Amino acid sequence: MDLDSMKKAVAISALDYIEVGDVIGVGTGSTANYFIDALAGIKGKIEGAVASSDSSAARLASHGITVLDLNDCDDLPVYIDGADEVDRHLRLTKGGGGALTREKIVAEASRRFICVVDESKEVDVLGGFPLPVEVIPMARSLVGRRLAALGGMPALRNNFRTDNGNFIIDISNLSITDPIELETRLNNIPGVVSNGIFAHRPADILLVGTSTGVRRRET
Ligand code: 5RP
Repeated sequence: MDLDSMKKAVAISALDYIEVGDVIGVGTGSTANYFIDALAGIKGKIEGAVASSDSSAARLASHGITVLDLNDCDDLPVYIDGADEVDRHLRLTKGGGGALTREKIVAEASRRFICVVDESKEVDVLGGFPLPVEVIPMARSLVGRRLAALGGMPALRNNFRTDNGNFIIDISNLSITDPIELETRLNNIPGVVSNGIFAHRPADILLVGTSTGVRRRET
């Protein structure tokens, strides 16, 4: 089975976590897109969805699913999203699609974060995938210097602006041995909006698409 088929299978399996009348949080990326397409088949069951990006909002709307503003919602019962990497404590790196800040907001607003990944995303130590940092434009160069001092290799994502109008700096060559500490440290650099480490608020349930079916882990 190829990775795309695993993503699709695991995305479909997340439908089991949705209850009648829910307003659900929906993530961003190719796995989240499979989830949105599957959600269309049960759209009558939910009241609506809060999207973590403009592209997911557009995809939800194209299926006739009501897209709600987070400011008009209370805490959400569930948030379903993919990840770039996940470790054994269900700490994640995210933001390959550049939606990390809104993803972090919707995850924080949700009682249960169900992360859906294919088996290639499971790692022993986070950091193999370049870590995105969203940066206010005027601080781009300052933050780049501060990130370089951490020992990684920061690179501005070419021709990219986030849905919030900011830049992304991707840091390669990091070995994230203490994700909570690094998440805090990066957030404390003035000009950083957020970073792609999800360790303070990890996933609650991990669903992994494998060649032999969907496997479940939880914290
Ligand atoms: C987007 C994300 C995605 O969840 C992450 O990049 C995984 O994407 P995919 O499902 O396409 O592998 O964080 O900002």
